[in-house]
Amino acid sequence: MIIAVDGPAASGKGTLARRLAAHFGYAYLDTGKIYRAVGYRVLEAGGDPEDPDAALAAAHALQPDDLENPELTSDRAAVAASKVAAMESVRAVLLGFQQGFAADPPDGAPGAVLDGRDIGTVVCPEAPSKLFVTADVEERAKRRHKELLDKGEPSIYSRVLQALKDRDARDSNRSAAPLVAAPDAIVIDTTAMDPDEAFASALDSIR
Ligand code: C5P
Repeated sequence: MIIAVDGPAASGKGTLARRLAAHFGYAYLDTGKIYRAVGYRVLEAGGDPEDPDAALAAAHALQPDDLENPELTSDRAAVAASKVAAMESVRAVLLGFQQGFAADPPDGAPGAVLDGRDIGTVVCPEAPSKLFVTADVEERAKRRHKELLDKGEPSIYSRVLQALKDRDARDSNRSAAPLVAAPDAIVIDTTAMDPDEAFASALDSIR
């Protein structure tokens, strides 16, 4: 069993995917982390994430440990991720790992939940269960802003909103695996939902 969960940044898809995996006893893969790790590697090497050679070299050099780096949650890593993720060559290098995880989940788990942008369209188009989780950009910005303030990090709402709009545009307008709901995905709009309601709605759809 594979559950594909796609959607824009801060839509609540990560929380939902993690919860679904725990509920069903499936393995969970946050594929955004992989792109963040590649982008971060380029930054650490002093390179430009928009440089195709640097991005491709970082994708090839990726190590499992890179995914544990706490810096990956930063906005710097998110922006770098969306730049390297626009390159077909980078995506091609990372595709096999994601498909292998879905086909043969670790620790003998009976299924996998993957979240990202192109799980239902490119990574696992055969997934029997596909969700596209979204929310208005202002609501997503409010959530992200609150999350940063709760962590004690400085945050300015208007900047968070603009950064999300920029990332949405980069993810949606790229030619390689753009952010789009698969035709057979069930759309869950979490604008007016709390995480429990989103989870209940997702369970309903999956059943
Ligand atoms: O989901 P997250 O915000 O961590 O993803 C960071 C960036 O990685 C996204 O903005 C997107 O550009 C890229 N990404 C992608 N395909 C995925 C997951 C993430 O292009 N499956």
